[in-house]
Amino acid sequence: MNHFDLIDGALHAERVSLERIATTVGTPTYVYSSATLTRHYSLLRQAVDRHPKQLGAGALIAFAVKANSNLSVLATLAKLGCGADTVSEGEIRRALASDIPGDRIIFSGVGKTDAELAFAIDVGVRQINIESGAELDRLIAVAAAKGVAPAIAIRVNPKIGAGGHARITTGGETDKFGVPIEEAIPLYARAIASPHLTPVGLACHIGSQITALEPMEAAFRTVRQVAETLRGQGHPVERLDLGGGLGVPYHGQTDLPSIDDYVAMCARVLDGLDVEAAFEPGRLLAANAGVLLSRVIQVNQRADGRRFLVLDAGMNDLMRPALYEAFHDLVPVTPREGEMGPYDLVGPICESTDIFARDRQLPPLRAGDLVAFLSAGAYGAVLSSEYNSRPLVAEVLVDGDRWAVVRPRPSYDEMWAREPKAEWLE
Ligand code: LLP
Repeated sequence: MNHFDLIDGALHAERVSLERIATTVGTPTYVYSSATLTRHYSLLRQAVDRHPKQLGAGALIAFAVKANSNLSVLATLAKLGCGADTVSEGEIRRALASDIPGDRIIFSGVGKTDAELAFAIDVGVRQINIESGAELDRLIAVAAAKGVAPAIAIRVNPKIGAGGHARITTGGETDKFGVPIEEAIPLYARAIASPHLTPVGLACHIGSQITALEPMEAAFRTVRQVAETLRGQGHPVERLDLGGGLGVPYHGQTDLPSIDDYVAMCARVLDGLDVEAAFEPGRLLAANAGVLLSRVIQVNQRADGRRFLVLDAGMNDLMRPALYEAFHDLVPVTPREGEMGPYDLVGPICESTDIFARDRQLPPLRAGDLVAFLSAGAYGAVLSSEYNSRPLVAEVLVDGDRWAVVRPRPSYDEMWAREPKAEWLE
């Protein structure tokens, strides 16, 4: 469910008209709904809190910052008590700048530099998820130099990948992520043996846009077995980080696992293990909380009947269709009466991958009309660029009948100012 609805025949974000935002800020622009973000977080929080025995009374929900790292979006979630799952120093800094305290920040990622590990230690993140023996050794060296012993979890690769597209699967045997089970057990023992690490548990994340619970359940059972084996060897395992990955209904599907079903499954798998769980949802919290607002530049009608709807948003603003063949519903902001017909939805970029969809059935549209790509709040603005020297897409946050520009579109002067004339150093 989201808070983008027609009011008097025109699409609104909560109580703010998208037409008004477009006339003031221009297009393309991402528009986020605070109410939807809040609703999704609260549903997950309530579901988790229903299972304190299985998931731990202090179970952490750490928003995957990579899905939407806008500071005002993060601050909205921070106020609700949400933590952050981060994968770079920049993301940790964004979380801290949004008032997410260090002890609610998880530092994940397959290639953290020594400097990033040192930074994470200095700001006191809750835990660092280790993804390889090589990384473990570097962290020991960094921690030893500081004379500290940061909390770590080992990310297990359960050899079960899942997700909406081969390019967003992370738990498969040949994926670069995590430590294979047979290596995870000796690695954990090695971490325990180091005076410079405090191993607290295991982590797992098998993919994104997962629309069935079975692969997740199988992966979590595997991780549970690893935890039990480690405990059998006398090692403490206090936390299990179950990652993110739950899919959202881009196509309006009604058969996806609900948040309650997902959390109940997690509680079932962890029952009796006495660990504290952590969740790292990205898409689940943010996808349906955002739309990408765009204007039709023109309609290119070909003699053979093919019709291109040329938008002022391109693949540089919304990469998901070009990268993952992802589907985003497109709706007119003020739908016109008339017969539905097929359009190819394209952007203005000089690339043949700059196509959002073929043969999309839409009501009549004309040059100047406003349209909105739905479910664009996750992995939308974060993946945008200035390719073709198009100013970085703007972002707006709505809250009831108020709205704010939370990332202004840069002017061309601002863009050029980031590229000073060459001052030769040597
Ligand atoms: N935790 C870890 C360790 C992750 O790698 C990810 C996502 C998440 C949590 C959050 O997953 P989510 O709940 O959002 O599915 N750009 C792609 C998705 C890439 C996901 C990468 N990892 C897309 O637009 O579909």
